Amino acid sequence: MNERIRADFPITATVIYLDSAATSLTPEPVVEAVSRYYREYNANVGRGVYRLAQIATQRYQDAHCKVARFLGTTGGEIIFTKNTTEAINMVAYGLHWQRDDEVVTTLLEHHSNFLPWMRLKEQGVRVKIVKPTQEGRFELVEFEQAITEKTKMVAVSQVSNVLGTIVPVKELAALCAEKRTETGPLVLVDGAQSAPHCPLNVAGLGCDFFACAGHKMLGPTGTGVLWVRDPELLEPALFGGGMIETVSQDAYTLAGGYERFEAGTPHIAGGIGLGRAVDYLNNVGMAQISKYEARLTQQLLEGLDGIKKVRVYGPSELRDRIGVVSFTVDGVHPHELARMLDEVANIMVRSGHHCCMPLMDYLGLKNGTVRASLYLYNTGEEIDALLEAVEAIARAV
Ligand SMILES: Cc1ncc(COP(=O)(O)O)c(C=O)c1O
Repeated sequence: MNERIRADFPITATVIYLDSAATSLTPEPVVEAVSRYYREYNANVGRGVYRLAQIATQRYQDAHCKVARFLGTTGGEIIFTKNTTEAINMVAYGLHWQRDDEVVTTLLEHHSNFLPWMRLKEQGVRVKIVKPTQEGRFELVEFEQAITEKTKMVAVSQVSNVLGTIVPVKELAALCAEKRTETGPLVLVDGAQSAPHCPLNVAGLGCDFFACAGHKMLGPTGTGVLWVRDPELLEPALFGGGMIETVSQDAYTLAGGYERFEAGTPHIAGGIGLGRAVDYLNNVGMAQISKYEARLTQQLLEGLDGIKKVRVYGPSELRDRIGVVSFTVDGVHPHELARMLDEVANIMVRSGHHCCMPLMDYLGLKNGTVRASLYLYNTGEEIDALLEAVEAIARAV
């Protein structure tokens, strides 16, 4: 990637930021789009008839359309949420559950795609957990065995936020389609780690719900997305202003479109900023971003592989993974390693359980890992700096 892209992310001039899986940096055009809303046309959306309100409403609507195009969705509804977690909870809360319904999920999941389903146990819903290999891979046959006529939901991540493994969600959705009855299984894909890095065609995935995080794909914090194939499947989680057609003393009718699911004043500036973020990603080109990151990932994996006392987790083949790379150094607590990388080399990486405690237990990593996660603004020199620092620390312990 070129210097112009680096210049759009001023933080890259001050630190080596390798924690994009947690939240990405925000490019200047997105910051600009957010501040233009506040400076030039700050008004609520979907309400006023005056000019400013009309402009804000139009831009906010446009942002939904941009995100729909970015995700490759053709029908259904794009709903703006505050993050991936909210998007997944909206599905868990919005479906009608019955005792003995079943949810199939996996041990690879972020807590955000785990706890909303676990919570349903209180309503008598059974949660089945499919286990991956140590590298985060699955055999479809294990899903086949887990899915029964009672399975109402299959909820999986498209990419692991710990191991970087790409999960074959399209094949899984096809399997679910074969087994589909009137009651399920519906398929939810947690795209928090895939949407920022992989060219996507959500319509072609065959899922019913797709959740992702605007703040992990160059958008402002406080932004997330839920795509719903059939909005009629879902009851809104929140009720109030902005999401109704009519209200009387004893009845109401719901609005159509995304408004039905976005009760109250939404994060207008955030939504508009997210629209600008996907423009930015499109301008660079998702295929190009993915290719560029693969080169950096290879450099990182090969480098880590050559350092004594370093253990790397997740698949070694590039075709099976993205640039989310977990590793440990024998004898160094991951938090200590992350702190040292900050202090000695100005490098920002995440450490700990990465909101995946069940997976960490399963992998026998009670202290978790250090995770370096890349994005389009990182460079080969930054990867070298990380490798050098890890090597020096590993040599010293
Ligand atoms: C795979 C995955 N799912 C869900 C989440 C939760 O995302 P958010 O913080 O946007 O709620 C994350 C965050 O790291 C994630 O990596």
